[in-house]
Amino acid sequence: MTARRVLLIVSGGIAAYKSLELVRLLSKAGVGVTCVLTEGGARFVTALSLQALSGERVHTDLWSLTEESEMGHIELSRSADLVVVAPASADILARMAAGLASDLATTLLLATDTKVLVAPAMNVRMWTHPATVGNLAVLAARGVVAVGPDEGAMACNEYGPGRLAEPPAILAAILAQLDALPGGRARTGPARRGEAAAERAPAQGDPDGHGLAGRRALVTAGPTHEAIDPVRYFANRSSGRQGYAIASALAALGARVTLVSGPTSLPDPPGVAVRRVESAREMLAACEAALPADVAVCAAAVGDWRVADVATHKMKKTAGAAPPTLALVANPDILATLARPGEARPRLVVGFAAETQDLERSALAKRVRKGCDWIVANDVGAHTGTMGGESNAVLLVTAQGTESWERMPKREVARRLALRIAAALAAALPRR
Ligand SMILES: Cc1cc2nc3c(=O)[nH]c(=O)nc-3n(C[C@H](O)[C@H](O)[C@H](O)COP(=O)(O)O)c2cc1C
Repeated sequence: MTARRVLLIVSGGIAAYKSLELVRLLSKAGVGVTCVLTEGGARFVTALSLQALSGERVHTDLWSLTEESEMGHIELSRSADLVVVAPASADILARMAAGLASDLATTLLLATDTKVLVAPAMNVRMWTHPATVGNLAVLAARGVVAVGPDEGAMACNEYGPGRLAEPPAILAAILAQLDALPGGRARTGPARRGEAAAERAPAQGDPDGHGLAGRRALVTAGPTHEAIDPVRYFANRSSGRQGYAIASALAALGARVTLVSGPTSLPDPPGVAVRRVESAREMLAACEAALPADVAVCAAAVGDWRVADVATHKMKKTAGAAPPTLALVANPDILATLARPGEARPRLVVGFAAETQDLERSALAKRVRKGCDWIVANDVGAHTGTMGGESNAVLLVTAQGTESWERMPKREVARRLALRIAAALAAALPRR
């Protein structure tokens, strides 16, 4: 019998109602849930609802004498295999980052040595505020894993990132974390605190239950900017969305992810170490510095060429003179460099092919030419809206053949690819 237990902290956000669905999904998957409700959380959902769904007493008060006599807060903080904060308000993330212990939830979070997973949910401006971005970076550096938030319409009539990840996605991230614990899925034993254990169902979307904890991933994203002079450059239309989504999806499965990003307007994905660069040569140097890695996913649209001689001063337009001619030289090939056989080669190297014609033929040839393991090929013709857009239709080319994935949100392409990567690494390779 597998007996896994989650301590679920529900903090004060409009999305707190979704925590009820999460408790239901966890119970259905055979994971025991003990709920802690913050003062803010109790404004949105009741302890009674959480209790009815979890089948357990809900904890709210640090100062409850009954709780201290039955089980003190220190014991409660260590009673679970994983601590989950969902939804995680901007406030609780700030208190966690500051190391405050001002209520039961934050005291438990400070007293625990258990892995913590947060599912942030807040207004887009709160989410992109430098204070929140900084707090997430602090937490990520301490090993806190984040799932979401999603992008979309918000209760406050705004649009953007900040929506709580959907409960099935949070469930998948929780199960991936639980699977990554010593003993993984096979760990057996009595349920903590005497709960009758139920056999856990496979994770939704992760049927084989492979996580990426203990794995290191390198992801590249975005365009490169190749300087012409101090104020001009040439670039391409890549938004970076697909690569950022892949970095997030790998982190959600527990990987330690370094994202090497060309210039984009996207916020740093939580839980991911981001290195921002401009040119192809800078991108290669940042990638090499990020090794070793178990997997490299090269989703960046790297400029093939750069100007041979970058002007030191702004080039002037002189009346009557012919426009300048720019001589180009080839940029380094980042994918081929990472895929080159040797000690430093990531065990799985995945390249992207952006094509406007002959997609499959080009992708098959590119896989061989670059020496990488997989190619994710996408049609970036203007009619597709892929470049800079929200969705993607891809071909996955591996040594086993070609799969065609129907058009879907880039986030979903990322999630599927991350699961495939987890399965491939689990099948073939011991953890580094
Ligand atoms: C109607 C309403 C909705 C709110 N929604 C959110 C939210 O979605 N995310 C968030 O971070 N804070 C939200 N807040 C603010 C938090 O509830 C507030 O920061 C609170 O102190 C958080 O408490 P906690 O840290 O105890 O959970 C909302 C407040 C109100 C009044």
